[in-house]
Amino acid sequence: MYRTCTCGELNIAHVGKEVTLSGWLQRSRDLGGMTFIDLRDRYGITQLVFNMETNAELCEKARKLGREYVLQVKGLVAERSSKNNKIPTGEIEIIVSELTVLNSAKVPPFTIEDNSDGGDDLRMRYRYLDLRRNPIRKNLELRHNMSILIRNYLNTLNFIEIETPFLIKSTPEGARDFVVPSRMNPGEFYALPQSPQQYKQLLMVSGFDRYFQIVRCFRDEDLRADRQPEFTQIDCEMSFVEQEDVLNTFESLVKFLFKELKNIEFDSFPRMSYADAMKYYGCDKPDTRFGMKFVEINDVAKGKGFGIFDNANLIAGINAEGCAEYTRKQLDELTDFVKRPQVGATGLVYIKYNADGSFKSSVDKFYSQDDLKVIANAFEAKPGDLMLVLCGDEDKTRKALCELRLEMGTRLGLRDNTKFSPLWVVDFPLLEWDEETQRFYAKHHPFTSPKPEDENFLDTPAEWGKIRANAYDMVINGVEVGGGSIRIHDRDLQNKMFHTLGFSDEEAQNQFGFLMNAFEYGAPPHGGLAFGFDRMCAVFSGVDSIRDFIAFPKNNSGRDVMSGSPSPIAQAQLDELFIDLREINTEK
Ligand code: AMO
Repeated sequence: MYRTCTCGELNIAHVGKEVTLSGWLQRSRDLGGMTFIDLRDRYGITQLVFNMETNAELCEKARKLGREYVLQVKGLVAERSSKNNKIPTGEIEIIVSELTVLNSAKVPPFTIEDNSDGGDDLRMRYRYLDLRRNPIRKNLELRHNMSILIRNYLNTLNFIEIETPFLIKSTPEGARDFVVPSRMNPGEFYALPQSPQQYKQLLMVSGFDRYFQIVRCFRDEDLRADRQPEFTQIDCEMSFVEQEDVLNTFESLVKFLFKELKNIEFDSFPRMSYADAMKYYGCDKPDTRFGMKFVEINDVAKGKGFGIFDNANLIAGINAEGCAEYTRKQLDELTDFVKRPQVGATGLVYIKYNADGSFKSSVDKFYSQDDLKVIANAFEAKPGDLMLVLCGDEDKTRKALCELRLEMGTRLGLRDNTKFSPLWVVDFPLLEWDEETQRFYAKHHPFTSPKPEDENFLDTPAEWGKIRANAYDMVINGVEVGGGSIRIHDRDLQNKMFHTLGFSDEEAQNQFGFLMNAFEYGAPPHGGLAFGFDRMCAVFSGVDSIRDFIAFPKNNSGRDVMSGSPSPIAQAQLDELFIDLREINTEK
């Protein structure tokens, strides 16, 4: 027997017990007469003691062991003289009587400690060692616990988990597909699913009624902290439901997870229209842990001779409460921040509402104290506050102000990662105009239904931008953790939608024919959503990056630096697939 107990379970109640433990050598301390070893496994750390006086041979052996050696020890549980109250096993130690080296180990390239000395690249290259570290292990444990809770919860609500294929038909809508060549069908390709969207809708036609799947999805898109090329969705679909039913069902699921995993209870999640999210926060995933909503001041700021404001489509700002004392240096930093290309503003106007009631601004030349008082009233500012104002083209200004608001939130410590602020963003636009290709795209996907009251706008191209969809996102702390919609189940409406998106009948039939045909056989009204599982885990842990919630993630260039993928393949494999790389190779 390799072990009678784990390295995390022994305590003062076990003193006097004979035990066998197996694990990795975390750290050893040689104090001459005594050698101490911390033995680690997934469950914790237990201190081992070797005494020169009582067993010199064993102590000599222990002294020679290196970090991360795999050991098995037998010994007696004893009370420690100097206790460590930071760990559950801190009151005891094992007086070792037998020591077996199960395996030696090379010196690891970084320390296997909570705060490792390993850089990102090294940690990824040796991910299997990184996964030995507590913080990463805990992340994967949270992920596991969350998946068990979700499966059980949905099961009690009659949801059934059904697997859908990974080798599917490529469709050009949405992000870019990863494609897989078919050996048996030369020149033809499968795509890996960006989501099981069409299959889950087919399952509704099949009468499954309530489906879910914790499922891998693949998207060939630019990567960021909260995006991986392969990620996991909690994908769900329901029949005979309206938007309200879907929101209530999945709001309850998320509330259940918060209660179980964080012991936090919520009232109903607030709902915010997409239009309000854009107007007050400049994005469709507002971080509502803090206020600082946008205030538009076109009507009070124009017409005072300040050309930049006079020529702007939008003049809007935020009120940073209590920041009137900001120094020149701090204001310069903020100006540099908004001018960064990723933020895109051309400059920043500030107005300080001094504690004595006077104003000091970067536009004093154009605005009198009375003018500034009028602006301050629009912001509902008080003495001691600092107003930060951007202006220009409407969309760009909102985007930049959104970044500035988040930056100020961070600087002022308002984005507390132990606080959670969930909400639904609803009434998304159905269609989105793309300047580059000069056509409308489905904002969510082509199966999303318009709001019944906006459906008639489909007949008038000039009104297409106004159509609102039965589409919704769940947002927590500024992260879109999930999204979905009520689908179109009526063939005529779906055809109309395809025409609106510029598909000919033939193109629509070619790409989505199987779904269209299925809809001829009695499609129930249906709708659903998908949560980003990796994002949900990260948000629950108060972390921005999803990478450490995935056992083996890709880096920012989509590479797995540990296994070395993607990689070239042998000519023989290429030949079998009828893929000719000669052109690419000559270009190189
Ligand atoms: P959507 O494209 O909004 O909807 O995706 C659903 C959720 O998946 C997560 N997500 C990602 N997570 C990590 N890395 C990525 N690259 C990534 N892309 C998306 C987000 C997002 O909210 N079929 C529809 C859902 C539906 O309508 O039912 C869909 O896939 O958290």
